[in-house]
Amino acid sequence: MNAMPPPQSTPSPLPPEISPELESWAKAWFQDGQLDFPADFRWGTATSAHQVEGNNTLNQWWAFEQIPGAIWHGDRSGWACDWWRHAEPDLDQMAALHQNAHRLSVEWSRIEPQPGHFDHSALDRYREILGGLRDRGIEPLVTLHHFTNPLWLERRGGWEDGGVVALFRRFVETTVQALGDLCSFWCTINEPMVYVAQGWFLGQWPPQRSHFPTAMRVTRHLLFAHAEAYHAIHRIQPDAMVGYAKHVRLFQGLRPGHPLDRYAAGLKRWLFEHLWVAATGDGLLRPPLAGFERDPRLVGTRDYFGVNYYTQDRTRFTPNPLHLFGVEQFPPHVEQSEPGRHGRPFAAFAPEGLYQVCQELQRHAPGVPIYITENGVPDREDRLRPRWLVAHLQQLHRAIQDGCHVRGYYHWTLVDNFEWAEGWGLRFGLFALDPTTQERTPRPSAYLYREIARRNAVPRSLEVPPPRP
Ligand code: BGC
Repeated sequence: MNAMPPPQSTPSPLPPEISPELESWAKAWFQDGQLDFPADFRWGTATSAHQVEGNNTLNQWWAFEQIPGAIWHGDRSGWACDWWRHAEPDLDQMAALHQNAHRLSVEWSRIEPQPGHFDHSALDRYREILGGLRDRGIEPLVTLHHFTNPLWLERRGGWEDGGVVALFRRFVETTVQALGDLCSFWCTINEPMVYVAQGWFLGQWPPQRSHFPTAMRVTRHLLFAHAEAYHAIHRIQPDAMVGYAKHVRLFQGLRPGHPLDRYAAGLKRWLFEHLWVAATGDGLLRPPLAGFERDPRLVGTRDYFGVNYYTQDRTRFTPNPLHLFGVEQFPPHVEQSEPGRHGRPFAAFAPEGLYQVCQELQRHAPGVPIYITENGVPDREDRLRPRWLVAHLQQLHRAIQDGCHVRGYYHWTLVDNFEWAEGWGLRFGLFALDPTTQERTPRPSAYLYREIARRNAVPRSLEVPPPRP
């Protein structure tokens, strides 16, 4: 698949040249007025290295993609969005969308292809990309771990072996020293509990294990790797903003008033959401991570909360401990997105959950700023996305009005990218991508998001979306 490089992408510039109709359509969303955001609000999109760079042959996901049946439809990341060679046209698109922020990640296996051997040409390429963002007035937020590991790390036990904590710190120190003049906004680890759940509980991602005690061991290693990275970055850059991106699903009982559903949902929230967030506040390792031991290294290791929010889960009790006594469902009457490979819709429409997350985090840690580091919906035809986008941003506006310190929103994502085990099956981009030709086509939502960022405001009304041209 990768024998021939794809044609160099030549993305067409965004409107008004392409579609004055779609531009008017985007403006018409505001006909009933607008809700203004704070003056310095950050509008961006989010990406991750393996999903966009292409040809990332030295990490465990590349190896996993070669296993027949591992990825939906047998897809592979291949050249992905070809960013390693040609990110710049997409940076132009961000600027055309009036973005002032972007979240991206660096690929550990490129920077440290062999243990202790750092590739300075890879760091230089990241310097080019970060400089390119800055030149366009776009503030980078750099994630240091987004699901991928160098193969050499996997071979020595990956995140199951405690040695990973020091190895991650060394990688982070080298990276921050090399890139620190271009970035001071860092996300140590993306979605630690998604990574643990997929890799060590559900067994759907590498290393495909289903073993709860190991899942908890890996979680401890991720927590300490995060804490070590947090302190290492602050030693190098005392004024840096450092945090993590936490996926939040707000598990709730499916059947109202059903005590066992409520119990199962509570257990999921405890394991998936509370353990991590609380430990990085008060430093306590709660059961089943450990027996309430407190480690001072963990205390207050977030200068901001990064929230990845897509949907809200409803949990129905099952007596099966292998499912942690609950299975997740979406209520039938709620609008749902395209299904993924297992037939379940990726998300149900639940924008008010975003308001709830902000409120809860702010109660938990008053004054700590919040950034929505991911939010989006897979929607190839862009039927749902415009309304989902507006509805979520309206809830964010409400949260800000009610006192939450929400400072930015990074839409997932700019251009369709390689969606892990779902391959190219789920399309999250504001731009559609043909991975073979690398041709990009703006979806209507790109026009709408551009109008939102340009005005620094979201439409007041969701009631009568204007008809689409
Ligand atoms: C991840 C992204 C992913 C997105 C959509 C998040 O869980 O951080 O890498 O593409 O959700 O599934």
